[in-house]
Amino acid sequence: MSLFRRGMTAACVLLAGVAAASAEDIVSYEVVDGTIPKSLTGVPGDPAAGRKAVIDRRLGNCVACHTATELSDQQFHGEVGPPLDGVADRWDEATLRMIIVNPKMVYEGTVMPAFYRNDGFHRVAPKFAGKTIMTAQQVEDVVAYLMTLKD
Ligand code: HEC
Repeated sequence: MSLFRRGMTAACVLLAGVAAASAEDIVSYEVVDGTIPKSLTGVPGDPAAGRKAVIDRRLGNCVACHTATELSDQQFHGEVGPPLDGVADRWDEATLRMIIVNPKMVYEGTVMPAFYRNDGFHRVAPKFAGKTIMTAQQVEDVVAYLMTLKD
């Protein structure tokens, strides 16, 4: 093998390693009666991190469409979606997780984006991994935050 070819092989191996490290595998989840009862990660969500993801324009950007009294320090609230006040009284955790992962399972034809959608049962090929808007843990953080919004 020429030195050049050996060099190329080493470079490719290096690139593959970098790609695998940066792309999170999309975790599979089970939908039961339009809900996702089990945590995507098994790690409890952090409500404070969830609040940040809800506000972050590159992540949830939930405030583009939703208001909440608790978020009134934030500017540019949209009113496309219902106010999030009291969502924890209206929905249980399993349904809130479904709404964040893929709201079309709860509201057919909704404009709300799916933040963590895959086909629900199979592991996704590596080239599609990491293509969700949020990571699995960010979904859990947002759900934990929503669970604090009680009337
Ligand atoms: C493009 C606008 C849009 C964005 C962005 C959006 N939503 Fe929604 N959301 C909606 C709409 C519209 C509904 C009402 C469902 C329907 O009728 O389509 C909804 C419904 C909901 C509900 C159920 C509310 C209830 O009272 O029943 C929750 C919870 C929710 N969204 C949370 C979120 C969170 C958290 C985010 C960010 C991670 C988010 N949404 C981002 C538009 C949006």
